[in-house]
Amino acid sequence: MPASILIADDDEISARFLKRLLTREGHHVSTVTTGDEVLRACASTPPDLVLIDLVAPGGHGFEICRQLKEQPTTRFIPVVIVTTQTDRHERLAGIDAGADDFVSKPFDPMELHARIKSLVKLKRYTDELESAEAVILGLGATIEARDPTTQGHCERLASYATSLGRSLGLDKTDLDALDRGGFLHDIGKIAVPDSVLLKDGKLDQQETRVMREHPIVGDALCAGLRSLNNVRPIVRHHHEKLDGSGYPDGLRSTAVPLLAQIVGIVDVYDALTSERPYHHARPREDALEVLGTEASKGWRDRVLVDAFADVLEPR
Ligand SMILES: [Fe+2]
Repeated sequence: MPASILIADDDEISARFLKRLLTREGHHVSTVTTGDEVLRACASTPPDLVLIDLVAPGGHGFEICRQLKEQPTTRFIPVVIVTTQTDRHERLAGIDAGADDFVSKPFDPMELHARIKSLVKLKRYTDELESAEAVILGLGATIEARDPTTQGHCERLASYATSLGRSLGLDKTDLDALDRGGFLHDIGKIAVPDSVLLKDGKLDQQETRVMREHPIVGDALCAGLRSLNNVRPIVRHHHEKLDGSGYPDGLRSTAVPLLAQIVGIVDVYDALTSERPYHHARPREDALEVLGTEASKGWRDRVLVDAFADVLEPR
């Protein structure tokens, strides 16, 4: 299984030796000599694996590794750090920087081969998962494309939901879920025919039933990907109401997941403040008043509605 490997080594002789060794095994190898070059190369053409043997001042290996692991676009690239000896302190620092593995000098070609093979195998799995996720996120965008009146809705939802989540002090995992939930909440509408989705007028009983299945269909679509586990409650429950009158499960009160409540609130807000075929865009104050009324009816949590009003910048 040939892989694309980036060698970052400030020692030319050692870099040449490694390159020869790995090229002989069929890998595509490129070399750089500084930390900046590693970051640039990984951002433009992400390799399957990076092998770092860098010391200061050109950018220390651990620091470069940390930077690669902090960037969403490069964090899944396996990083192997070359250590001179089996220095425990050095290895601990490497683990702390997010290094996936270590090799020590002088290189044992068999060991190097085995380590690279297992990391590249793992990387292939991650790639597959990433592309599956990209497909699902792409599907989210097609929903919006089918209904031209909802242009920008998903993006705005993701932005409103994360702003509200941040103001409530939610952690990064929840904020990421809100961001993706904004894009994916209506993904189940893929199963709703155009005649219903784009109908210019009130839906009849049968059409309403079809439309109300979209959270269940969406949940099932996301179920295949473990990375979307924390987005699923948003997809399934964004139309629930706290008094149990929502759908699809008629959940009540605190049984409605917080993240789904947040997306539910910003979904209503965005629908009201956007131009639609069946209504004109309403001013912010009107939309907040509607949400306030819904809180009075027991549909929404007033604390969340008020927090959202605070999040919206005053005009
Ligand atoms: Fe929905």
